[in-house]
Amino acid sequence: MTRIAIVGASGKMGVCLIKAAVDEKLLTVAISSSAIGKDAGDLAGAGTQNIIVEQNLETLLDDFDVLIDFTRPDATMKYLEICRKAKKRIVIGTTGFSPEEKAHIKEVSKEIPVMFSPNMSIGVNISLKLLEMTAKIMGDYTDIEIIETHHRHKVDSPSGTALLMGQVIADTLGWDLDEHATYGRSKGNIGARESQTIGFSTIRGGDIVAEHTVMFADVGERVEITHKASNRMTFAIGAVRAAKWLANEETGFYDMQDVLGLSSLHMTRLGLMETSPQVARNLVHRNE
Ligand SMILES: NC(=O)c1ccc[n+]([C@@H]2O[C@H](COP(=O)([O-])OP(=O)(O)OC[C@H]3O[C@@H](n4cnc5c(N)ncnc54)[C@H](OP(=O)(O)O)[C@@H]3O)[C@@H](O)[C@H]2O)c1
Repeated sequence: MTRIAIVGASGKMGVCLIKAAVDEKLLTVAISSSAIGKDAGDLAGAGTQNIIVEQNLETLLDDFDVLIDFTRPDATMKYLEICRKAKKRIVIGTTGFSPEEKAHIKEVSKEIPVMFSPNMSIGVNISLKLLEMTAKIMGDYTDIEIIETHHRHKVDSPSGTALLMGQVIADTLGWDLDEHATYGRSKGNIGARESQTIGFSTIRGGDIVAEHTVMFADVGERVEITHKASNRMTFAIGAVRAAKWLANEETGFYDMQDVLGLSSLHMTRLGLMETSPQVARNLVHRNE
């Protein structure tokens, strides 16, 4: 059994994570700066669990195996350091990190197992594979636009998922994302669209959970790959799945593609799909 600790317990994702971990009977620790003393299950509407929300993770290091963090970058850095020192595994879902903070997370993954993904939904991770395939076939001659829509409270932009989608496309095409990205377009005579760029657009409003559309627009046709999340539980269930998976992994840096076994699938321009030798063997075996 993987014992799970959740930080940021009172947050929008925090309560979903508590519900998802309680559903699997894996929650043992809940940490919050604002709901201290409450029962974690009551806080999340998951029924009383007799797990009291605490403030200090460092006093509970013997009570969990994997920490799940969906908070803010500064808080995540603090929890990452506690996990590093205590040799604890960590699943990070927080978004909005600076390049330096991301580099630091990677550095720490040389000492403890770290799973880091700005989007833990299964659908988004399948979408990333579809993006890879589409970019390989038509990315170098179409106009690529990424449009992301979130609720009014979201503080970072573009979303971590939109940036990840851009990174997957850039990596597939051998581009440096910083050199090929255009963030928003200003008013007035902005000139014609530059080819071989990836445009990012951000929309914020109401209670929209998360929507991402990637458009590959050519003259005469366009392909759009869209993912819509209508409930935060999808991310929480993915994060708990990731925590269970990470419990059996060695020190290293992992993402949701690893958790879902998608990282071994490689799309090719010619055959559309080429698989790693192991996956290919499995597919051949299945078809026999
Ligand atoms: N990876 C994914 O699949 C995914 C999906 C959805 C959201 N996210 C990301 O997860 C993060 C949390 O999202 P959310 O919607 O749950 O946000 P939220 O409702 O604002 O909750 C964040 C919680 O983090 C805790 N926190 C600790 N230090 C903090 C600080 N310095 N500033 C603010 N809060 C702090 C607070 O909980 P306490 O008061 O209880 O300590 C706060 O309620 C965001 O970065 C979001 O983009 C990721």
